[in-house]
Amino acid sequence: MDSNEFRRRRQELMNLMGPGSIAVLPAAPERPRNRDTLYPYRQDSDFYYLTGFPEPEAVLVLIPGRDQGQYILFCRERDPACEIWDGPRAGQEGAVRVYGADDAFPISDIDDILPGLIEGREKVYYTMGVDRDFDQRVIGWVNHVRQNARSGARAPGEFVALQHLLHEMRLIKSKAEIAAMRKAAQVSAEAHRRAMQVCRPGMLEYELEAEFQAIFRRYNGSPAYTPIVGGGANACILHYIANDQPLKDGDLVLIDAGAEIDMYAADITRTFPVNGRFNPEQRTIYELVLEAQKAAIAAIAPGRHWNEFHDAATRVLTAGLVELGLLEGPVERALEQETYRRFYMHRTGHWLGMDVHDVGDYKVDGQWRLLEPGMVLTVEPGLYIAPGSEGVDPRWWGIGVRIEDNVLVTRGGCEVLTDDVPKEVEAIEALMAEGRDGG
Ligand code: GLY
Ligand code: MN
Ligand code: MN
Repeated sequence: MDSNEFRRRRQELMNLMGPGSIAVLPAAPERPRNRDTLYPYRQDSDFYYLTGFPEPEAVLVLIPGRDQGQYILFCRERDPACEIWDGPRAGQEGAVRVYGADDAFPISDIDDILPGLIEGREKVYYTMGVDRDFDQRVIGWVNHVRQNARSGARAPGEFVALQHLLHEMRLIKSKAEIAAMRKAAQVSAEAHRRAMQVCRPGMLEYELEAEFQAIFRRYNGSPAYTPIVGGGANACILHYIANDQPLKDGDLVLIDAGAEIDMYAADITRTFPVNGRFNPEQRTIYELVLEAQKAAIAAIAPGRHWNEFHDAATRVLTAGLVELGLLEGPVERALEQETYRRFYMHRTGHWLGMDVHDVGDYKVDGQWRLLEPGMVLTVEPGLYIAPGSEGVDPRWWGIGVRIEDNVLVTRGGCEVLTDDVPKEVEAIEALMAEGRDGG
């Protein structure tokens, strides 16, 4: 992403913060896996959103209206001995030249320098309550200023959660962000198509998962969350991630997997028959979920509220379940009493962006939020009929279906970003047959 994009975001945030304020935001820490091994580093989304800076051990400081520079970055110093092991660091010079900081200081000097920057500011914005250690450090810096009160130093009187302003900004995606999300969606769709083509009875769930890993890496991406590959009844376990069971002839497989590319996520679910052909019961449940998903997407447009598409999905699902005899009618009562929750126990979507469950409030002043152009959300109804479900004809047991797409709210309505992967029964069966013909 271009450095102007990050500059524009910092400027917008500083305009919202107003004069007399300072924002302090830390980079994500490195996390040990065991002994000398770390988990792959993932920068904090808020920090990255404002800086584009990829290194750990850094703190961003924004001081709107400061004459000597508004954007200050504390970061690691260059260190040839460390760089031999861990690769190059930007250092203070790189922070200014490459990342556009007005000034940069070694992170090891932050306790000496930051109190001086806080002094005279009335409001301190920071990501309150996210990291206890960082909360303590902010209080320590402010106390440091207080201790100098007798020599005339003025300590801020107000702490404000930075999340409110920042997460409202992140909720509305810019052109550049939409382009990044389109890319993540396309790569993820390619991987789902590939999984449909290579799937065969007898394969292991993790062998299908491997296809996602291979394709994501080919685009310098990685999974945005741990993929779910659930064959048969495993699809009814909502957070199934073991992915180590054989895929059986006659079963469905549910795959929930999306790539993160350039820090933006996709989140796609498809459910398809392991042997390439839906049986009648699978097809019935699948088409009901698909109808619900289409009804939900049709309820997404600017001015519609957050819950409308969920209501649209639950209404279709409930009516279908009553018709199939899986729920007792009448439909209105089943909706009111939420008896559908036995088979549909999650909500129909969430915000999507740098985080798979992205930031942004769902209600404003106690009311469901109205959709606006530039918001991106998932639409993911499902039905899960666990094996042994009491009072349910066994022919439905073990069927779990979810269909999940990523949807951008546009001025005229919405756009599905993930429609490169089929979801109609005939289209799935045709693609899978193509794979079987040696394609
Ligand atoms: N993959 C997580 C979700 O669908 O919300
Ligand atoms: Mn998902
Ligand atoms: Mn999702």
